[in-house]
Amino acid sequence: MIVVLIGYMASGKSTIGRVLAKKLDYNFIDFDDYIEATEKESISDIFETSGEIYFRKRETQYLNEIIANKNNIVLALGGGTPCYGNNMETVLNSEHVTSIYLKTTIASIVERLETEKDKRPLVSHLNTTNELSEFVGKHLFERVQFYSKAKYIVDTNNKNIEEIIEEIVFNLI
Ligand code: S3P
Repeated sequence: MIVVLIGYMASGKSTIGRVLAKKLDYNFIDFDDYIEATEKESISDIFETSGEIYFRKRETQYLNEIIANKNNIVLALGGGTPCYGNNMETVLNSEHVTSIYLKTTIASIVERLETEKDKRPLVSHLNTTNELSEFVGKHLFERVQFYSKAKYIVDTNNKNIEEIIEEIVFNLI
């Protein structure tokens, strides 16, 4: 099985994915790290030198490659991956793939992004908390229609990592 974690930037996909993979005795793939390693360039530099459209095309290509070639992994997608091309359909229509949307409030996303926005080209230019909140609010509203197609939705608010993992594992068995 491939367990795909879906959610907005800074919703905890990588942190939760690592712990979940250990628990399931699966390998963990952070999709952004995979893209950076394969392209030999940071996500910020890819956006800067080749543009977002190039990045989205590579994202679709690498997602298809991973789904076709790997198994027994936890895959933490990028926040935009489910929202472009046929990516969400690919995830939903692949028999060995299951998907979990990590649902987080705008406030906790904004709080985390404030300290982590530099490596995220879509938000790195936003300077104030207000700008960040306004952007995330609108952006999440557009994206939630894709995220909500995931097989399971796990609300991460007011839960510690053990509780989140427990809820995910409960859904998977
Ligand atoms: C993006 C999210 C990022 C990364 C890229 C674009 C997005 O991944 O793929 O900066 O469109 O939301 P994280 O969700 O891991 O930050």
